[in-house]
Amino acid sequence: MPGTRGAVPVPLHTNGGQRDLTEEILEAVDQHEHVPTAEAFPSTPQDKIKAALDRLASRQMVEYETHDKEEVHLTEEGQAIADEGSHEYKVWDAVRKAGRLSLKDPSLANASARLGQGNAFKLKWIKKDGDALVSLTDSVSDTTREQLQYAQEHRAFQDPKLLKDYSKRKLVNTQKVIAYVARKGPRWAKQMPVEVTDLTAEMIADGSWKTANFKPYNFNAKGTLGGEGVGGGTGALHPLNKVREEFRKIFFNMGFEEMPTARFVDSGFWNFDALYVPQQHPARDLQDTFYVSDPPEAGPPGADESMDIILAEMDVDDDQDESDHPSSDPATRAKDTTAKLDYQAYYENVRAVHQDGKYGSIGYRYPYTDAETRRLVLRTHTTAISAYVLHRLSANPRPCRYFSIDRVFRNETVDATHLAEFHQIEGVIADYNLTLGGLQAFLKRFFRNIGVPDLKFKPAYNPYTEPSMEVFAWHEGLNKIVEIGNSGMFRPEMLLAMGLPEDLRVYGFGLSLERPTMIKYGISNIRELLGHKVDLGFIESNPAVRLDRE
Ligand code: PHE
Repeated sequence: MPGTRGAVPVPLHTNGGQRDLTEEILEAVDQHEHVPTAEAFPSTPQDKIKAALDRLASRQMVEYETHDKEEVHLTEEGQAIADEGSHEYKVWDAVRKAGRLSLKDPSLANASARLGQGNAFKLKWIKKDGDALVSLTDSVSDTTREQLQYAQEHRAFQDPKLLKDYSKRKLVNTQKVIAYVARKGPRWAKQMPVEVTDLTAEMIADGSWKTANFKPYNFNAKGTLGGEGVGGGTGALHPLNKVREEFRKIFFNMGFEEMPTARFVDSGFWNFDALYVPQQHPARDLQDTFYVSDPPEAGPPGADESMDIILAEMDVDDDQDESDHPSSDPATRAKDTTAKLDYQAYYENVRAVHQDGKYGSIGYRYPYTDAETRRLVLRTHTTAISAYVLHRLSANPRPCRYFSIDRVFRNETVDATHLAEFHQIEGVIADYNLTLGGLQAFLKRFFRNIGVPDLKFKPAYNPYTEPSMEVFAWHEGLNKIVEIGNSGMFRPEMLLAMGLPEDLRVYGFGLSLERPTMIKYGISNIRELLGHKVDLGFIESNPAVRLDRE
């Protein structure tokens, strides 16, 4: 089964017949409450032990503590004493065996024997008798040897005070070692469980993800080394992301704030009704719009808390707003703003404009269907978000500039220049007494900033703007004038229904992110840019972007 590891992935015999260390540790921990690894696995390097322990500890099967400790090791001389006895013992032994040992005996000539003689005298094991040595006792206990043997076996002295003395005599030295003590963890098991490494579509469909035992992430794992190609190497920004960043910078430089756009699924109300797209308009057709069937419908238009908090956070930088909202907590400020908004009244206003006309508009004069307003759609434009943000503005009407760059969906036939999803760049500017000339001046400045100098405007129609203008520019490569954007001034019946003041006007404009990106990178087929046919080599190798400014 793809995405899982074997049933019992700890092989019994690896490393040329040796048992797997992970399994050995599990066995040891099963048998003893505490397993000091240095003692339990004296011949295994501690780094291997640590790797195995980490594998088990990340699954909470085993817990372990690290102990730094000093180990006593015998020097060559210390080892000789542990094996053959101390210098004094050897002298005493020779004397005892000989009965009388002449002081001139060659066996007493070496350094060890001279040292041993002195000590043996002090210990009263031997004495001088004329020109010879005689034993004073039948048996001795060779403490030095015993203590060194103990140290050799336990890598420590029984009485830790001895360490200093023996180190000074250069019979032992110490080495720092890291050792571990392992015990059962909260999810103890004697065998490694089956672990799922990938979340698959089937698991989501059959619900098995709920109970699956996922392999834990190892955030300490080292990454693969850099290099060419997919898999290794570093990540690369998608060209659309690079161009998007350029546009964001331009917007920020021009005093815009970024709207939160994480709402990919929206209701018919925000995507269509609030923008006066007629309820029977072909754009709402299944052929043009993706509808969501589960959940079956949206609630009535209302506050979106997560969006409101982000918007309230942006307002902190806004002086006018701050005096209005003394609370510094964005969640509280978001609630204060919501309290000033009447979504129900707004909804009734929108319904009235559609059905009967209001605010000087004669309306469409058809029966308005509530069910249509509650249908859930994959948003067909980010203007759905702009509508929400503009309605929120009526809690505190003021001049402001908002932008967004995010994904939208249209149920279109896919060809070289169309995909069922693309990215929209959208801007709205609210201010008092704005005029169409001001919108043209703004658009010229905006497009000059992205390297498009000469604009042409053509009257157009949007249900939510009047007047509306399509924006055209000369395309060097194609040698002709091409459409690059859509724009307009939001209709009074849209803004008044929201509760915005009469003299507050709002510009809106939109363009696709794909169009300038394709021009920038010389791509003629949009499928080379987005979707499953994208060549990852192209993504990794294309250059950084800087839109040519004047
Ligand atoms: N929503 C428009 C589009 O999809 C763009 C636009 C936004 C036009 C705002 C006017 C005002 O093309």
